[in-house]
Amino acid sequence: MKTSWHFSVPERSISSNSEILPLDARITNYSADLWVTDPPYADAVNYEELSELFLAWYEKRLPVLFPEWYTDSKRALAVKGADENFRVAMVECYKKLAEKMPDNGFQLVMFTHQDVDVWSDLALILWAAGLRVTAAWTIATETDTSFRTGKYVQGTVLLVLRKRRDSLRGDRADIWPEVQNEVRRQLAAMLELDDKEDPNFGDADYQLAAYAAALRVVTAYGAIEDIDVERELRRTRRPGETSPLSDMIRSAVRIASDFLVPDGLDKTIWRQLAPEERFYIKGVEIEAHGEYRDGVYQEFARGFGIRDYRWLLGSDAANQTRLKTASELKGRDLSGEGFAGSLLRQVLFAVYKTAEEDDPQPGLDYLKQELPGYWDQRRTVIALLDYLSNKPSGSMTHWKKDTEAAHLLLGTVEGDSL
Ligand SMILES: C[S@@+](CC[C@H](N)C(=O)[O-])C[C@H]1O[C@@H](n2cnc3c(N)ncnc32)[C@H](O)[C@@H]1O
Repeated sequence: MKTSWHFSVPERSISSNSEILPLDARITNYSADLWVTDPPYADAVNYEELSELFLAWYEKRLPVLFPEWYTDSKRALAVKGADENFRVAMVECYKKLAEKMPDNGFQLVMFTHQDVDVWSDLALILWAAGLRVTAAWTIATETDTSFRTGKYVQGTVLLVLRKRRDSLRGDRADIWPEVQNEVRRQLAAMLELDDKEDPNFGDADYQLAAYAAALRVVTAYGAIEDIDVERELRRTRRPGETSPLSDMIRSAVRIASDFLVPDGLDKTIWRQLAPEERFYIKGVEIEAHGEYRDGVYQEFARGFGIRDYRWLLGSDAANQTRLKTASELKGRDLSGEGFAGSLLRQVLFAVYKTAEEDDPQPGLDYLKQELPGYWDQRRTVIALLDYLSNKPSGSMTHWKKDTEAAHLLLGTVEGDSL
């Protein structure tokens, strides 16, 4: 049946007094009940260079139309970088805006960044600026178009911030259980609220909710044990080094991943898996649901606290993102930190061997030789093989050979005895 409907939008004339001031946020003089900001994303885009490109056209006209504006890119004032200078400059901006806001005012900060470190740094920045997170929402910004290729912003998080008014002090040992409880309470409430048959919340929603719950608890404190905010902000970090505050927030987000048990895998097995293994298992699950957006992988990496996952991708084109299959991973990276040294990685290699030789024996021999305590891990190996042989959907043709191999190997591992 074809239905058509018509809705006439009433015409309204909207007028207001507005003023646009090109200004360094740090010298804002204006007071407002609500500040909406969209800060630069660390070193993602060189806005000052972009403005110079446009100034080439506007430079002469702007002073005529807007005599009080300047026509300079003000490079020196740009908040940029991903280091201590970025953190300090951001705090200066947000401190100023908090100062120029009444006690019952609030701020809305849009934030998008793929890098888990920049993201967790935001907590430190807002905390140091005297602000407290009270809510968070994500909006999906990925467009389903084929004409846009490459990396672009997939989803934006909107954080609601209020002034932190009381000077609560706490020890990490007291705050951590509070963070855990708040995260669990938040996730349990969402699970209860959601429709079991047709869920509305996705994994990314749970992860973000956990992140926001942790931020709510942590940023409510004025001082945490021995954390010296000023020092943390200005400290030059070695690659991979984080701040104590972001470590606490990362751990909180990891709690969320315990809730995200994929269909077809036992809860107890899921809880034993390392973050990188969970990332891969989840990647296979979402692909089976026809999900190919790069942003979803970014959200998972952020949620599971994984830094480098690009090497696991078989395709990273926008809207075509997917993981490498066992046969595409081949024998690459079989030992070391993270995914390379994980049980799942060894299982995938055994699947690849089985597929390559069309015989499960070399795969089984490999697992028995290489896995320390093979018999203790056998139950998990069986669960992973079962998952890999059933999860990939029929439309994932690149998985066909490997799902068959996983099935073959599963039968052999199950039939094997001491
Ligand atoms: C993510 S962009 C905002 C994009 C904007 N919402 C839009 O839709 O076009 C971040 C902006 O912050 C500006 N910015 C950088 N440093 C600043 C500072 N010190 N004070 C105010 N704005 C600054 C950059 O020039 C850039 O335009």
